[in-house]
Amino acid sequence: MSKDKLIIEKALEKYLPRKGELAKAMRYSVFAGGKRFRPSLCLATARVLGCPLSKVIPLACAVELVHTFTLVHDDLPAMDNSDLRRGKPACHKVFGEALAILAGDGLNTLAFKIIAYQPKAAQELAGALLAVVEGQVRDIKSVNQKMTLAKLRAVHGWKTAALLKACVRGSAMICGAKSPAIKALTNYAQHLGLAFQITDDILDVTSTREKLGKPVESDVKKGFPYFFGLEKSKVLVVAEKNKAVKALDSLGNAAGPLKSLAEYVIGRVN
Ligand code: IPE
Ligand code: IPE
Ligand code: MG
Ligand code: MG
Ligand code: MG
Repeated sequence: MSKDKLIIEKALEKYLPRKGELAKAMRYSVFAGGKRFRPSLCLATARVLGCPLSKVIPLACAVELVHTFTLVHDDLPAMDNSDLRRGKPACHKVFGEALAILAGDGLNTLAFKIIAYQPKAAQELAGALLAVVEGQVRDIKSVNQKMTLAKLRAVHGWKTAALLKACVRGSAMICGAKSPAIKALTNYAQHLGLAFQITDDILDVTSTREKLGKPVESDVKKGFPYFFGLEKSKVLVVAEKNKAVKALDSLGNAAGPLKSLAEYVIGRVN
């Protein structure tokens, strides 16, 4: 993943504005040290489809900007009220709440400016972002609620899987993939997203602030382990990962890079 990470860092560096207070806040959150998992997913999809990586770099960057925007807002006092993100003080802790909200607005808008000339991918990204926002609304409401497995799966689908789906679907569209391949990739990303978010919920209760670079026990009353226990959550992660890998069957041996990312998701420590 690290070679792809470098490609993304360089591209992001070019896209982000440089001058002024807003640019400073946007850059602060983007370059605080994210894993760049979503951009890596875009690049891996291009690789699997035999498409030049350069074609999906705008989408990869746009997704990372949108993702960073959701994190900046997710940390605000009105939401998860988290003081640490990507190992650094959260955006609102450094720049204040007003500028953090505006930095989020800026990141979101810049993302769509970058991807606007690839309209199908832009539409995928916009649809995914609407799902993320819906997921965040449901997430807030899930505190102290009775959650069934189906309900929590749906929330995580909106909150996290939707954006991963936009990565693979958007990249596949840019690369000119046919609909059976797009279907397989969509299915893969749905399961991958669940594995990713359940792992996030598990790390929230098993890891440390230092290792994660963000507060622990911030979703202690609304994550998978709270509702279904740690052991069952771990079983669910592996089951979702296996389903994600299985969904790639029709793509044959070429699917290796996407399978590796699925393994990465369940083994990750931050
Ligand atoms: C955090 O995403 C939010 C979730 C959807 C779990 P990441 O774990 O990808 O965070 P960064 O981008 O590496 O900071
Ligand atoms: C956030 O989920 C998902 C987003 C859409 C931002 P979390 O609230 O679990 O993410 P972290 O744990 O703060 O990164
Ligand atoms: Mg949250
Ligand atoms: Mg949070
Ligand atoms: Mg979390």
